[in-house]
Amino acid sequence: MSKSPRLATQGSSHQDVLSQMRELRAEDAHWREGRTWSLVYNAGEDIRRLLAEAYTEFMSENGLSPLAFPSLRRFEAEVLAIGAELFHGDTAAGTMTSGGTESILMAVKTARDFARAERGITEPEMVLPASVHPAFQKAAHYFGVKAVNVPLAPDFRADVEAMRAAVGPRTVLVVGSAPAYPHGVMDPVSELAAMAQEKGVLFHVDACLGGFLLPFARRLGHELPDFDFAVPGVTSLSADLHKYGYAAKGASLILYRTPELRRHQFFTYSDWCGGIYASPSMAGTRPGGAIAAAWAILKYLGEEGYLKLSRTVLDTARALREGISATPGLKLLGQPQLSVFSFSSDTLDVYALGDAMEARGWKLDRQMMPPALHLMVTPVHATVVEPFLADLRACAASLASGEPAPDGSAAMYGMLGAMPDRKEADGFILQFMDAMYSE
Ligand SMILES: Cc1ncc(COP(=O)(O)O)c(C=O)c1O
Repeated sequence: MSKSPRLATQGSSHQDVLSQMRELRAEDAHWREGRTWSLVYNAGEDIRRLLAEAYTEFMSENGLSPLAFPSLRRFEAEVLAIGAELFHGDTAAGTMTSGGTESILMAVKTARDFARAERGITEPEMVLPASVHPAFQKAAHYFGVKAVNVPLAPDFRADVEAMRAAVGPRTVLVVGSAPAYPHGVMDPVSELAAMAQEKGVLFHVDACLGGFLLPFARRLGHELPDFDFAVPGVTSLSADLHKYGYAAKGASLILYRTPELRRHQFFTYSDWCGGIYASPSMAGTRPGGAIAAAWAILKYLGEEGYLKLSRTVLDTARALREGISATPGLKLLGQPQLSVFSFSSDTLDVYALGDAMEARGWKLDRQMMPPALHLMVTPVHATVVEPFLADLRACAASLASGEPAPDGSAAMYGMLGAMPDRKEADGFILQFMDAMYSE
């Protein structure tokens, strides 16, 4: 029997296509109800609808050519100007990118190329606290920059003295996070930036996660340290619009203290038979929809809207942290002050707790070193604080009484976390990826 072609000979109706897609969604994470604690920054249906309209309005336009689409150029310039103002970058210049990872890749490439041009460094290194996002390891891998990974201080923040000791003559960049994803704690940006400046090295603040929350949290009276271009020595900063900026996916900012530094990010090729080619970031084609939707949400919310959403997020996160700390057997890691945090236990298997919560419909990310569960709080979670904590208390009590947890990923996480050879763990994950990306 001949195999039927994967691309159907004849197309389907508009309705059929959409209904098939909706069916395929049945087992997706239930983010709309606030049961998922990562991946989706849900600020409600009015915002989702505005983003959908703004995105579709510009989904065919291509941000690669500012000459062809002055509208997109204007959107991007205004989004960057808002970012520069929020982050005290009077002379700052940057670009929009597709997300935190691309912004980070660009910051690392820029630092490498700057150091090559200005300091003649050909074997570059960068100094990273262990909690930085893996996008920095990816950048190290892609751009041939050696990652010098420095263990954290006991409070899970970057250890300034250990970082100082790791800076050498080949260091092109030092990094801190505001805050870091795993424990949601702020690295000591002022101290790190001063150290980098003293050593004559660029310093990047990864505010991908906190960038569009921190300025508003401070305006709401939360005591948080300086983290942006107001700090001498900060030379670049990344902030994701598609996280607490509540933009559609595919939108982040990378900003540099000066346009001269940004120059090292750009790519040009003027020797191609296809014409002059110039591209600001990793991507060639740049989706107009993501740029337009980011502009739309900043206009729609304004400062007032961001303050309101930030207040909801911060109050909800505090209520959750208090509830978790009050649950017998559970403890928060470090001193998270914002919207992201993780908790662990000295007496319970937290991976088994994760499975028990999953059986009740809550999807929590698992972390390692130490084993922990992770929460990223968004406005929708304000509606689930009590049911979540009630389930958490019940699951923790049942595990403490010796009840086995339902089957889940605990065994796999336990095994992966405990493998002494991390290369072996990577091999295992690669096999898993092969399986995920085949049909
Ligand atoms: C601190 C931090 N940096 C970078 C990133 C990477 O962002 P993206 O997933 O948009 O590439 C994240 C993602 O959660 C993050 O939390």
